[in-house]
Amino acid sequence: MPEQRRILVTSALPYANGHIHIGHLVEYLQTDIWVRFQKLRGHDCRYFCADDTHGTAITIRAKQEGVSETDIIARMSEAHQRDFADFGIVFDHYSSTNSETNRQLCHQIWAGLRQRDLIIEREVARLFDEEAGTFLADRFVKGSCPKCGAEDQYGDSCDRCGATYSATEVINPVSTISGSTPALRMSNQLFVRIEALHDFLQDWTQSGNHLQPEVANYLKGHFLGEPLHDWDVSRPAPYFGFEIPDAPGNFWYVWFDAPIGYIASCKEWCQAQGEDFARWWGPESEANANTEIHHFIGKDIQYFHTLFWPAMLHAAGFKLPSTVRIHGFLTVDGEKMSKSKGTFVTARTYLKHLSPQYLRYYYAAKLTNRVDDLDLNLDEFVAKINSDLVGKVVNLASRTARFISGEQLQVANPGAALERSRAVREQVAALYESGNFAAAMREIMACADAANEFIENAKPWTLAKDPAKREELIAACSQGLLTYWELVLMLGPVLPDLLQESAKLFGLEHPQWGMSAEGATVGTFRHLMQRVDPKAVAAMIQETATASIDTAPKPNTEKVSSSTASTNENPIEALAPAIDIEQFNAIDLRVAEILHAEAVQESKKLLRLQVSLGGGDERCIFAGIASAYQPADLVGRKVVVIANLPPRKMKFGTSEAMALAAGPGGKEIFLLSPDSGATPGMRIH
Ligand code: MSP
Ligand code: ZN
Repeated sequence: MPEQRRILVTSALPYANGHIHIGHLVEYLQTDIWVRFQKLRGHDCRYFCADDTHGTAITIRAKQEGVSETDIIARMSEAHQRDFADFGIVFDHYSSTNSETNRQLCHQIWAGLRQRDLIIEREVARLFDEEAGTFLADRFVKGSCPKCGAEDQYGDSCDRCGATYSATEVINPVSTISGSTPALRMSNQLFVRIEALHDFLQDWTQSGNHLQPEVANYLKGHFLGEPLHDWDVSRPAPYFGFEIPDAPGNFWYVWFDAPIGYIASCKEWCQAQGEDFARWWGPESEANANTEIHHFIGKDIQYFHTLFWPAMLHAAGFKLPSTVRIHGFLTVDGEKMSKSKGTFVTARTYLKHLSPQYLRYYYAAKLTNRVDDLDLNLDEFVAKINSDLVGKVVNLASRTARFISGEQLQVANPGAALERSRAVREQVAALYESGNFAAAMREIMACADAANEFIENAKPWTLAKDPAKREELIAACSQGLLTYWELVLMLGPVLPDLLQESAKLFGLEHPQWGMSAEGATVGTFRHLMQRVDPKAVAAMIQETATASIDTAPKPNTEKVSSSTASTNENPIEALAPAIDIEQFNAIDLRVAEILHAEAVQESKKLLRLQVSLGGGDERCIFAGIASAYQPADLVGRKVVVIANLPPRKMKFGTSEAMALAAGPGGKEIFLLSPDSGATPGMRIH
């Protein structure tokens, strides 16, 4: 076993303005697999992440929902962490960029930049909404693309031609806040002169193997050949973020404080664990000289992580990353993820239909250490899981374990298949280490093929019929199961549940890379993995295509051009175009509890409901549901009502709210009810 390494790992911090989807999961699964591999090898490896909470996108979503930014942040943090946990993605600490620790670290790094005289102030023209009295972030401006003329484009980039530009270049700009035409106003902005660090960046990106070769070349070809532009890091109020201490009324642009969130997350963990932060990160020192820092990110944000971020760390004297590992984008069946095609699948929707183990394996089988995009082909997904995992790996156990339950695993002469699976161990480890999971999976499956061939020849099911062949049976099944164990151990980073269950089968605890199962007693075999049902995949796609979307778009990173356009759809467009969000928010939807229900003598259609909206607010509702419901069945039921319709006078009394129901009428009327847990008066967003 090599010496224990101290390894700090991060994934990009997901934006708090939307839910996790299967595109994000490429990254979080890739990172989790790598971290689990390091832990299985016995290294002191820690995985840190956080929600990225600042910037315009959050404000837009908050406005849409009529809630505060901090409400959104709290809700999303919970949802993100639940999604990750359910995919087996385990962080040592998960934080938020809106934390006090992060603010302090931002101050510290800012002071470092100031001290090195890297901050300059310059006047720039920005669009100003005179009606709303505020400067407009690019995303709050719409107009025609200055390059191709496409209408109705955001102020930072064009969906049609992919051009990126600044809001001041947009033709016929309109403020999305007030609908008015914005004016140009000068504003004092702060910039980081990263050109002053050009030599350092040239060095750091081009030597030392911090980056994949194609990334290093890209930077050399696209950015480092000419002077680097000053980086605009301040935004005038109002902006949701941290105020810059020595420039009141100005806030750090989200991309300034977001990566510092990596450090903050690590620091919070150190504080909670009583670990010495100086040994993990912070200013470069003897204490952290041997610590490795690895960032996993997608190609759309490489500019920030390979130029700005090392520049910031270097300027502030902080320890630099050992590697930044960049992956490509997910496509589904060869096309970018699409809401209408049903391929914009959220983590939650996936989990409703399929086991997370399947996706973990499928992505592992596709991920290399290159930046290439990767395709989720749905037919191949089904075929691969069923053939590799169920047909090859789990089959090894299911065809042997039941014959030798209670026996000890032993081999006098390891056969070729077992020897092979032991011999590839270090090679597989090297493939994991380099990030070439696809090649690692291929090695493991080749071993599984050999082991299955061995079982085919040994035919335990035939041996089992002849009591005189008992010894032979035990030997054959032992070979099979010992090989199986080698394989599930090597698959452990990808399929932790399978490893766990298999360890249980053999009564083994705390699996470590290379641990032997020789001498272990075989327990009772239980089914280890189900085949993928193609119907479940179809149902997942169907549900995605019809669900109302709650996955925010990837907010364009203001101004910084990246040649790789983001693939996300825009849910504002995807939502019903008929009304705008203001109109939607004007509808006061509430949870109500039915306290009392009775027939209305003079009417066949109507029931009179007495409902509570909480806090003593009781209303009378005349609902046309008598053909479908018995009054007695309704008492105590929670329903959804519109609480702000004007009271309507009817023959029998006044209806003071409206209960929502679906269906054509008659017997087919279905009242809407919230999930259990909702209480009367809760607002429905
Ligand atoms: N908040 C920034 C990152 C700040 S890091 C200091 C961000 N957030 S994100 O939610 O949009 O994306 C998080 C990660 O998921 C990014 O690395 C991004 O590249 C990755 N992916 C988002 N969509 C993806 C695909 N469709 N395919 C693969 N990775 C994708 O960027
Ligand atoms: Zn255009």
